[in-house]
Amino acid sequence: MTRKPLIAGNWKMHGSLADSRALVDALRAGVTAGAPATMLLCPPYVYLPAVNGWLQGSAVAVGAQDIADKPGTGAYTGEVSGQMLREVGCSHVIVGHSERRALYGETDVVVATKFKAAQAAGLVPIACVGETLEQREAAQTRSVVERQVEAIVEAAGVQAFAKAVIAYEPVWAIGTGRTATPEQAQEVHAFIRGMIGKRDATIAAGLSILYGGSVKGANARSLFAMADIDGGLVGGASLVAAEFLEIFRAAA
Ligand code: 13P
Repeated sequence: MTRKPLIAGNWKMHGSLADSRALVDALRAGVTAGAPATMLLCPPYVYLPAVNGWLQGSAVAVGAQDIADKPGTGAYTGEVSGQMLREVGCSHVIVGHSERRALYGETDVVVATKFKAAQAAGLVPIACVGETLEQREAAQTRSVVERQVEAIVEAAGVQAFAKAVIAYEPVWAIGTGRTATPEQAQEVHAFIRGMIGKRDATIAAGLSILYGGSVKGANARSLFAMADIDGGLVGGASLVAAEFLEIFRAAA
């Protein structure tokens, strides 16, 4: 596998500035330059400048949890543009997280627009896709994931996936402690890679596809052993330094 594993921590709306400092200090101490995997931290917007500062000189990367669907500057109260995220040291940004889709009404079109806005600003989008439990039980996993990925391919073109990451996050596995089995995840990852591969085999082969949903130190190794799982997008366990480092080491 030529794809370098990526272990991304999505802190969501958790912690304080002091908690963040302690977490970052513990994590940076556990990641050496030249490690065979990349660690990425995605704190809340307001902590980005501080986290970026604490990580100066380390190999740990910084990303954001969301981005405005508009470029540049403008009258968009409450929004943060890709250029602003770049200024505070972000290399990546999560788009289309299921919580954004479910709680804030983000449609496939909005997600695709954010994906393009990220790339226009020089950020690598991490596009999240995944089915609900109801959809899985109705055997709609593939059709849901296909619709979510297709919306981005249609808007941005398959070439855009040369500089993007996809995260498969089954909604029923997020924050529930109920992880997809390595086989369940692998099946969807291979399906996604196949979708991209039908259009461009080289881009598909280089595309990082992360798994997210109750990844822990104890299950990380078996997930990352699967051929099409290139790392993890980790929520709860990314807030506990020892646990997140264990996940990181499972990929490295
Ligand atoms: P948990 O790891 O807490 O299940 O969250 C996954 C997630 O939503 C990461 O984006």
